This record gives sequence, structure tokens and C-alpha cells, in this order.
Amino acid sequence: MSSPDPSRPQIQRILVVGAGAMGSQIAMVFALAGHDVTLQDVIESGLTRAGAQLADRMGAAVAKGRMSQACAEEALGRLSFSTDLDQAASTADFVIEAATEKLEIKQQIFAALDRAVPAHAILATNSSTYGSSKVASVTSRPERVCNVHFFNPALVMKCVEVVRHPQTSQETIDVVMELVRTIGKQPVLLNQEVPGFVANRLMGVLRDEALNLYSSGVASIEDIDAAAKTALGHPMGPFELMDLVGLDVNCMIAQATYEETGDPADLPHPIMQKMYESGRLGRKSGMGWYNYETTR
Ligand code: CAA
Repeated sequence: MSSPDPSRPQIQRILVVGAGAMGSQIAMVFALAGHDVTLQDVIESGLTRAGAQLADRMGAAVAKGRMSQACAEEALGRLSFSTDLDQAASTADFVIEAATEKLEIKQQIFAALDRAVPAHAILATNSSTYGSSKVASVTSRPERVCNVHFFNPALVMKCVEVVRHPQTSQETIDVVMELVRTIGKQPVLLNQEVPGFVANRLMGVLRDEALNLYSSGVASIEDIDAAAKTALGHPMGPFELMDLVGLDVNCMIAQATYEETGDPADLPHPIMQKMYESGRLGRKSGMGWYNYETTR
């Protein structure tokens, strides 16, 4: 294994902005890999909930014999929580933003981060819909900005898409690719911004075909999911996956992709949109394509 290049910025202190399902697990991934991590959110109760959920997850991993109690405690001890973005940013070497998928909010965060972080810091967005050029443009360091896109659940899924925009420097890409490898993930590099990146583009095709087959009465939800799992070897069927990711998130991603491409084929599928509007969001609401009320 080659030793790290001493001329490259070393990444120890990580800031994760946004304590939702993605941000909290991303923070834990870095803490498990030995980084000092701050998880920041404007909502204090979101931080409390994230802390409790992560402690439960680590507890379950210890109970299953996946890690030692000491390892779990050390990792949780490397994780701190803050509502103060400026203070949390002031010592960060690497920031990953995992806030709401609203461009205006992300741009506000990036402008604030740019003012607060040290000069060497790299700023990344976990956005799956907005290429980082859209947030790099509000910073004074576009060469140190890129997408670093994790998948749900981030503690488990190996893939991380790293997307460069036209001004991202090669050094930034080299540092980020290495960082992703050192946290035990598989980086997938995109050399240009394309709506949906790679994995969501692949997933979108399967999902929309599943919705077409179901809505035209060809097969049931259960049987379509069974085909994806037993014929294609997918760990979940497309309907189960929509429920895991959330119907709201699926619709938001499709809508944002349409806004990028202008292609009506990218709009949220009508029956997916109907589910979202009726409040059936998947696991998070207890009801989606499947009923989770009894399993919650
Ligand atoms: N959070 C954290 N860990 C979880 C989890 C969750 N929500 N759900 C399950 N796990 C862990 C379990 O603790 C377990 O860990 P161990 O192996 O250490 O025991 C492991 O995952 C397997 O869990 P289970 O045995 O309970 O269940 P499973 O074998 O069915 O796996 C799964 C669950 C990992 C979610 C699996 O079904 C899977 O890989 N599904 C596909 C997920 C996927 O495609 N994600 C991408 C979504 S798209 C996206 O994220 C992009 C975007 O931009 C929206």
C-alpha cells in the first residue's frame, strides 16, 4: 500500500451538515474510521434524535458481535453535536453537506461554510440532484468543491459517487477518492455532472418500469419485487426500495432531475406522485407500497 503524499492536505476533522437519515449515518461512518466528527444541524431535537439512533445502531452491532463495546464507545466518543455552524466549521478539514434538497438552502450553507472553514478545507455536497457547480459558485474556492454522494443506509451501502464539476481541481479529486477508500467505501468517479449521476439513473429506469408494469395490471407489487430479488439478485425490489428511500425523496429527486433536463420522461411517475400526495411516504410514515405499522 502506498504511503500518503505529505504535500497533500491531511483530512482528520470532519463536519457533517444536516442530521437527517443520511447526515447522521455519514457522520458515524467517518467516526468509525477514526475521524473526529461534528454533526451540525439547526434543529437541536434532530441532533438528539440522531445521537440516540446512532447509539442504538452501535449497540445492535455490539450485540450481534459485529464490533467490540470499546470500539463502539470510542467511535461514539469521536462524534460531537452542534447547532453552531460557524464554530463547527472553523476547524474542519472536510465538510459534507447533507441538508434538505433545496438549492437555496444549500447555497446559503455553502456561502456560510466558505467564510468559516480554514483555507485548505474541501467542501462537498451529498446532494443526488444538484451538481456541485451550483454550490461552488457561491464560494471563493470552487476548485475545492465536489459532490460526494452516499447511499441509504449510508452505514451499509459501499458505493460513494464522487462527481467533479468543471473547476474541481485534480488534487481535490485525489484527496476525496483516497478519503472515500480509507472509510471503507467504494468510490465511483464521475468526470462530469449529469442529472441523477450513475446509480440513480440506473435505479430510475428500473423503478419507472416497475411502476408501469404495476399500473398497467401486468403484475402485483409483491411479484415485481420478487422478480427483482430472485431473478436479478437485487437485495430489495423497486417498491421496497421506494419505501426505504421515501416516496417524498423519490418525487423530489425526479422533479429536480426534470428541472435540470426539461425532459417530461424525468417527471415523477404519476402513481408515485399520487402516493406522495396522499402522505404514504414509505417506512418513515408507516405506510408506503407496503404497510409498516405492525413492524415499527
Ligand atoms: N441503517 C443502518 N443499517 C441498517 C439499516 C438501516 N436503515 N437497515 C439494515 N441495516 C444493517 C443491519 O443492521 C445489518 O447489519 P449487519 O450485517 O451488521 O448485521 C445489515 O444492514 C443487513 O440488514 P438486515 O439483515 O436487517 O436486512 P437486509 O439483509 O435485508 O439488508 C439493506 C437491508 C442493507 C437495506 C438491504 O436490503 C439493501 O442493501 N437494500 C438496497 C438498498 C439500496 O439500494 N440503497 C440505495 C438507495 S438509493 C439512494 O440512497 C440514493 C439517493 O440519492 C436517494
